[in-house]
Amino acid sequence: WCCKNCYRTAARIEMAKADSLVILDKDSLEKKKTAICNTGSKKLQVIADFDATLTRYWINGQRGQTSHGLLQQENPEYDDKRQKLYEYYHPLEICPTISIEEKTKLMEEWWEKSHALLIEGGLTYSAIKMSVSNALIAFREGVVELFEYLEERDVPVLIFSAGLADIIEEVLKQKLHRSFKNVKIISNRMTFDTDGRLVSFKGKTIHVLNKNEHALDMAAPIHDQSGVSNGLTDDNASVKTRTNVILLGDHIGDLGMSDGLKYENRIAVGFLNDNIDKSLASYQKAFDVVYLNDAPMWGVLDLVSDLC
Ligand code: C5P
Repeated sequence: WCCKNCYRTAARIEMAKADSLVILDKDSLEKKKTAICNTGSKKLQVIADFDATLTRYWINGQRGQTSHGLLQQENPEYDDKRQKLYEYYHPLEICPTISIEEKTKLMEEWWEKSHALLIEGGLTYSAIKMSVSNALIAFREGVVELFEYLEERDVPVLIFSAGLADIIEEVLKQKLHRSFKNVKIISNRMTFDTDGRLVSFKGKTIHVLNKNEHALDMAAPIHDQSGVSNGLTDDNASVKTRTNVILLGDHIGDLGMSDGLKYENRIAVGFLNDNIDKSLASYQKAFDVVYLNDAPMWGVLDLVSDLC
């Protein structure tokens, strides 16, 4: 598209079709927008969760798969074992009545067990590629346009996920059909042996409720399988000095993604995908903007086009 107005018009037309936006404090949002707008794109960055934030929660009436969930290890026994873990732990993950302390312990348990099963089950990199091509996973409409808009303005996008970095990379490659030089992934990264078999995970595990502890690692450069940096500068300062943040998440724990930054202004956008009746009150308080009903990304594109 040729200019900012093209992006904005397209975003507004699409948004008008969806009645899915909740903003508790419009004045506060407007103040944040004005403050960010005044400093322009040089100070701005987007920090986004991946599963069910950039990707859709529902696809043709079925639950879209996560970067964990789409994996087929070529070892059905292990796929079953991981599915059983999902069936046990996912309801606990989204349960609004379990305390954060208790839930954190449960999430640690889940991630530890599922990473161990991936190693034990002998996951290979070729199985990852095959799994992604067979997966029920799709980006929300408007994600490509959002990334493109931000790329044209040199605004970095950090995808901060408790999923699996190697899989997210493959999903971006296969489903977006293009790469973005401004997009960087911070997630659980695998190490493969010379036969392409998973042997370990790098660094400390990131799960849904400890993203804040990893916020400071955010600026560290990440390299892909071939050892090539994803294109963002290796200079840690570049993300640290971007003190205006648009944060996108589907979980209240996602708000911790910006904890490592001394941000000046943050607009938090939440996608509330499930348990709407029980969770809307807390989401409205926690996020400046809440999208319901598996909304597309057009609203975020419209917001960003007001800022830079
Ligand atoms: O990208 P995000 O941080 O949201 O990724 C984490 C998601 O992966 C969680 O919401 C969780 O439901 C899912 N998950 C999974 N299987 C696991 C661990 C996490 O599907 N073994």
